[in-house]
Amino acid sequence: MSREGRPANPPASHRQGGRARRPATPVPGPPGPRIPADGGLPAPVPVAVLLGGPSAEHDVSLVSGRAIAAALAGAGHPVEGWLIDLDAGWWRLPDGALDPALPAVAYDDPASLGAQGPHRAGQVLAELAARDPSPVAFVALHGPYGEDGTVQALCEAAGLVYTGAGVAASAVGMDKALFKRLVAALGMPVVPWREVTAAALETDREGTLADLRAFAHALPDPRLMVKPARLGSSVGMTIVHHPDDAAELDAALGAALHYDERILVEAYLDHPRELEMAVLGNGPEDLESHGPGEAFPGHEFYDFTAKYAQGVSATTGRADVPRPLRERLHALAREAFLAIGGEGFARVDFLLAGDALYLNELNTIPGFTPISLFPAMCVADGVPFAEVCQRILALALDRERRRRRHRLTRADLP
Ligand SMILES: Nc1ncnc2c1ncn2[C@@H]1O[C@H](COP(=O)(O)OP(=O)(O)O)[C@@H](O)[C@H]1O
Ligand SMILES: [Mg+2]
Repeated sequence: MSREGRPANPPASHRQGGRARRPATPVPGPPGPRIPADGGLPAPVPVAVLLGGPSAEHDVSLVSGRAIAAALAGAGHPVEGWLIDLDAGWWRLPDGALDPALPAVAYDDPASLGAQGPHRAGQVLAELAARDPSPVAFVALHGPYGEDGTVQALCEAAGLVYTGAGVAASAVGMDKALFKRLVAALGMPVVPWREVTAAALETDREGTLADLRAFAHALPDPRLMVKPARLGSSVGMTIVHHPDDAAELDAALGAALHYDERILVEAYLDHPRELEMAVLGNGPEDLESHGPGEAFPGHEFYDFTAKYAQGVSATTGRADVPRPLRERLHALAREAFLAIGGEGFARVDFLLAGDALYLNELNTIPGFTPISLFPAMCVADGVPFAEVCQRILALALDRERRRRRHRLTRADLP
């Protein structure tokens, strides 16, 4: 659930596609508290950066992971890279193989880079946990496997300290349906939606399609947005312009069901503003939020190409919004982060249609290159990229310290 390859500050001549708006000139005065420049950062600690992963966002993670590794190494932390291939095999990368200049295809054959592997995840994590001191796993993976609680559970089982959200928060953050059910129940604004499963379509195709058509016609605008529940990067998403056109609706459902057995059918918003927030912290006591940043998609919506092709879209780490909206964004972003039990960091994404603000999704491992929006929002508040990475490391260590207090001995058993 990340995005890369977009210019942080596009040239003035940048083409906006169907959109007339342009990135705003930065305005001063973010209300969020700042990461302390002088404290809260960890002493040098060994770090194992996990990058790649068996997900459609493999290549994005390669960029994020190497940027993080370079920043942490530059800040004095001993860093080693672990590449996870598309078959979920783990490879120990030699130091030179973390070079940000290497093209993504170079990682398709890790042995040619001098990497050792493939190893099984459990084997690697047990080996890392047995070291003294054991490294902190910096999980720089996006999408299923790395961002959905799977790797987080593996780290938990191995007893390895890892960055970012825990198992449950990762799973809820990855699943757009679970996320929306949760935050909607808490009274937060979300776009109206229906959920469809492959099983429901198989057993009652006509009834399911009729329900969706009725849903569409009860909306002010009958157009629909169809998306898989657990994916990112806009993969498998389609706008349905004419929900009464059975073929069009069918094709959109099929495209999303290709990637997940559960999909969302949402009310379509016509070119909403895409505002995003960065949240860091482990709980209400130490939460901080930065942003809003904004994306300016060059296509009808922020589809895969609009996110990743150079020069199609634009972003800014500092969106031009009136103060009341800014304050509401900070409050809602924090509320959503706390609602899922977020830890470490997350990017919280909003859609603004006219005056109506909707919470769209929460990414527990957002894109993390120097030009990605999450770090760009922190940088806009005066927090350098390397400091953001170190702060995330410190939050992982802080969580570990708190957890240690809850380790059971026989004397604790009832
Ligand atoms: N209900 C909607 N109406 C209009 N556009 C939408 C809607 N939902 C998503 N989009 C567009 O699709 C993009 C990707 O959707 P999103 O839910 O964020 O999935 P992903 O996890 O793939 O980023 C958004 O950034 C926005 O441009
Ligand atoms: Mg998104």
